[in-house]
Amino acid sequence: MRPRGRHATLLVGVVLTAVVVAPLAWLWQDSRLPAAYAATDMGYPDHGGEVFGAHASGGHTGEDGGDAPPARSVDTLAPPADRPADVEVTLVARAGQVDLGGGRTVDGYTLNGTSPGPEIRAVQGQLVEVRLVNESVPGGATLHWHGVDVPNAMDGVAGVTQDAVPVGGEHVYRFMADQVGTYWYHSHQLSHEQVRRGLLGALVVEPADGTPAADDPSGDAVALVHLYDGVRTVNGRPGDSRHVAEPGATVRVRVVNTDNGPMSVWVSGAPFRLLAVDGTDVSQPATVRDVAVEVTAGARADLEVQTPADGSGARVELGGPALLIGPEQADPAPVPRPSEQVDPLSYGRPAPPPFDVAAPDRTFEYRIGRRPGFLDGRPGLWWTVNGGMYPDVPMFMVADGDVVRMTVSNDSGDGHPMHLHGHHALVLARDGVPATGSPWWVDSLEVGDGESYDLAFVADNPGLWMDHCHNLPHAAEGLVAHLMYEGVTTPYRIGGANEPE
Ligand code: C2O
Ligand code: CU
Repeated sequence: MRPRGRHATLLVGVVLTAVVVAPLAWLWQDSRLPAAYAATDMGYPDHGGEVFGAHASGGHTGEDGGDAPPARSVDTLAPPADRPADVEVTLVARAGQVDLGGGRTVDGYTLNGTSPGPEIRAVQGQLVEVRLVNESVPGGATLHWHGVDVPNAMDGVAGVTQDAVPVGGEHVYRFMADQVGTYWYHSHQLSHEQVRRGLLGALVVEPADGTPAADDPSGDAVALVHLYDGVRTVNGRPGDSRHVAEPGATVRVRVVNTDNGPMSVWVSGAPFRLLAVDGTDVSQPATVRDVAVEVTAGARADLEVQTPADGSGARVELGGPALLIGPEQADPAPVPRPSEQVDPLSYGRPAPPPFDVAAPDRTFEYRIGRRPGFLDGRPGLWWTVNGGMYPDVPMFMVADGDVVRMTVSNDSGDGHPMHLHGHHALVLARDGVPATGSPWWVDSLEVGDGESYDLAFVADNPGLWMDHCHNLPHAAEGLVAHLMYEGVTTPYRIGGANEPE
């Protein structure tokens, strides 16, 4: 090669380096997260309509409107401190062996020595008080009440509503058990690791009027499904388990999916009704048979199983293990997974929505995608929200009382179980097809690749609330945004000892 050519090559090399590497270096640098930051500073405000204070006379005003709500710290958003507790529980978190029975143990975390931790039961209207003591979970821990619309200070998100409880520390949670139904609790510190390793349990709120759940234990069974180190368990036990019931008995099975992916549930040998979704009763659920129910990550489904009168029993299939229901000796045969699914969009009887969904105060888009880039300096293929990568995601801004519409769409090549804290949203439509069944209220909703859901909710629980994917590794990969009420502030910081995901 002639010297001139070599120079030209060198020049091209230098220019290419400048053109390719410099922007990459900038992108890399730009993606790095500060050591600690307030969740309120995350991303960019998205008002979904009018900016607070933009009009002088309306109910919602802001900076220059004169009657903006005063700044409120998340700490102040708590139930009255002087009301005595009705249900008091202490949960001691430890690192160690989780006993799966039959001599089998896995390395993980326990609450009061077991995982799942103790089932917490309350009656509607009671005040629940849980003291979390962290004896030995090295990364610190918290408790989040998944699906319970607790006051914000009690939400248990490390770095947002509290500091992670360090080894030797404790934290008290207090909330009213106002919502009847099936819920669960789990750590929201390093949740992608701590939930998988066992810091979780079931929470059930029974109606105050003494319906069967309250006084007939044979009529009510929790089936909390969790994968420990690749072993699928129901209530912490691998293999089939049994719930003894008289022939012909009707049993409410409360299925809780605590894993990262959707689970298909069906009943072998008996008809059933889907009584509740994410804790909320379905209106006039029809009896079905040979159909599956999809329970997405974090979601719950209450099934009312009608056991056969001949004593042959029924099996609730839970993705491997089953819950057998019937007399001691009953051994019902499993049936393969039905191809048909209950579609909550059209199941049950419609009822008018409790607020005017046609006149929203704010309209948001939560568009999930995926593209290559840097997440906190790490190159990869990362999730995006409205085109931006964490933390450049929208901060959905609302004022107390707003009616909110949100369209969640997904074009990312993978499904996402989306979970909004502190609120239940009503599903209005899927892929543009309006809901025609019972009002379908969710806190955890599987949004499949290529799908879009229209949701509506009322902003009636002031605070700073996560809205994230409950496939928890996805959340740790940045599939997280927040809903923020006007004027709410937080003294806590994400980063350092606080890693909510
Ligand atoms: Cu069940 Cu933000 O979590
Ligand atoms: Cu996801």
